[in-house]
Amino acid sequence: MKEPYEKIPRHVAIIMDGNGRWAQKRGLPRPVGHRAGVEALRDIVRMSSDVGIEVLTVYAFSTENWSRPQDEVGAIFRLMLEYLNREVAALVENQVRIRIIGRRDHLNDTLLSAIEKAETASAHCKGLAFNVALNYGGRAELVDAARALARAVQQGELSPEMIDEQTISRYLYTAGQPDPDLLIRTGGDQRLSNFLLYQSSYAELYIPDTLWPDFTPEAYDKALRSYAARQRRFGGIKPR
Ligand code: FPP
Repeated sequence: MKEPYEKIPRHVAIIMDGNGRWAQKRGLPRPVGHRAGVEALRDIVRMSSDVGIEVLTVYAFSTENWSRPQDEVGAIFRLMLEYLNREVAALVENQVRIRIIGRRDHLNDTLLSAIEKAETASAHCKGLAFNVALNYGGRAELVDAARALARAVQQGELSPEMIDEQTISRYLYTAGQPDPDLLIRTGGDQRLSNFLLYQSSYAELYIPDTLWPDFTPEAYDKALRSYAARQRRFGGIKPR
């Protein structure tokens, strides 16, 4: 039996990178890597829920990913649809509430209706909040927040002086959720790639070389132990 964690992040955010390389290393088409990535994700969702993490946010498709070859984009969306249709019952059984965050434009009607169905079916769940960032961009999210804030001011619901950091948080897709404490990016690249830009200000970064399909529960355990061993100072000084 492993030691329990000394502390657990409330919110874990993951950039699931390396599916393409995983497939290419095996001489397989990139979509095969994405399919293997979904398998890895299933275990990570289960483990997040088991260890008591409150929020898990994963980056499934960015606003920049539309520039990939059309067949790869199509394959990712088909996997997403398959995941939603197949997994929702198991998620609900485990009290996992799924929400898709990002812009809903450019998504086809079949996917939109699967998203709505999954969100509605799991809306009452009280365990892990599972956010899937789809057609998501951190800057787009801030643009959407700025527009909504401007509308609120225009309608007299807010004055500009009332806007503080908490107000902005309330206008983001993650409104009401704690900011990520731990941000994991698999695949070794040291970038944020437009993910949760506002929310990740003080997130601890963990960037293993492991490609996403190889990110097993053991690898996740290592990430959580690395987090537990860190001293977070939030710009202050080390407590005595
Ligand atoms: C990054 O790897 C991965 C993606 C852009 C897609 C992630 C999508 C999934 C895991 C499947 C759909 C998601 C859900 C929630 C069912 P990459 O292709 O950039 O890898 P590379 O850096 O090796 O090229």
